[in-house]
Amino acid sequence: MSRSIGLDATLTDYVRKVNPAESPALKRCREETEAREDANMQVSPEQAAFMKMIARMVNAKTAVEVGVFTGYSALAVAETMKALHGEKARLYACDVSHELIGIAEDYWKEGDVADVIRPVIGDARESLIGLINDGLAESVDMMFVDADKTGYPEYYTAGLTLLRPGGVMLFDNVLWSGSVADPSTTDPDTEALRAIAQKVNQDDRVENAFTAIGDGLLIAMKR
Ligand SMILES: C[S@@+](CC[C@H](N)C(=O)[O-])C[C@H]1O[C@@H](n2cnc3c(N)ncnc32)[C@H](O)[C@@H]1O
Repeated sequence: MSRSIGLDATLTDYVRKVNPAESPALKRCREETEAREDANMQVSPEQAAFMKMIARMVNAKTAVEVGVFTGYSALAVAETMKALHGEKARLYACDVSHELIGIAEDYWKEGDVADVIRPVIGDARESLIGLINDGLAESVDMMFVDADKTGYPEYYTAGLTLLRPGGVMLFDNVLWSGSVADPSTTDPDTEALRAIAQKVNQDDRVENAFTAIGDGLLIAMKR
């Protein structure tokens, strides 16, 4: 089960009980994904609840997700976006895997958000450039980055172009199960996560907050 860092099973249960209930499609996506060996890639329900609230707070009509997996976080955010903007909402869901997007689409159909989600299949480095070239610069309200960690600097650069002023980028796994605070861990993923935290914190183009939600969620709002 995917859960927030530092929360034991008892507290995780409590937090889930006092958060809004998942939709049936979210519940099925989470439960079926739990049977996979790589299930821990999925965001936790409490992180999804937080992201739905962020979507509401920025009145998200246009959003981008980088790293879809079986579609849980995209489904959560798209539900809120469609509640706010109906069929005019657009979530560009980027993943390198045809197979995973196929799995995700089944949950998006059940959740009645397939019409507002546009899958973008390929390396997200190129997909984000494609979205910029398609005219999305300065129009994106919210972007969630949850793919290859060494790509985070490039996703940040593209995100700064895509976001409107006041739009937010969320970077997942910035605690990397605690590795980022262990100086003896120097693998490329951990180094990339340290680098993005530092870069965002020193960048006067954004307001930022580093939170311990999930496996660490870094929030950057474009000024
Ligand atoms: C941690 S999972 C995403 C979890 C998802 N946000 C959720 O809550 O279920 C990471 C995903 O990123 C995708 N990915 C990895 N490298 C990528 C890249 N360079 N471009 C696009 N997607 C990539 C993987 O295929 C995988 O589905």
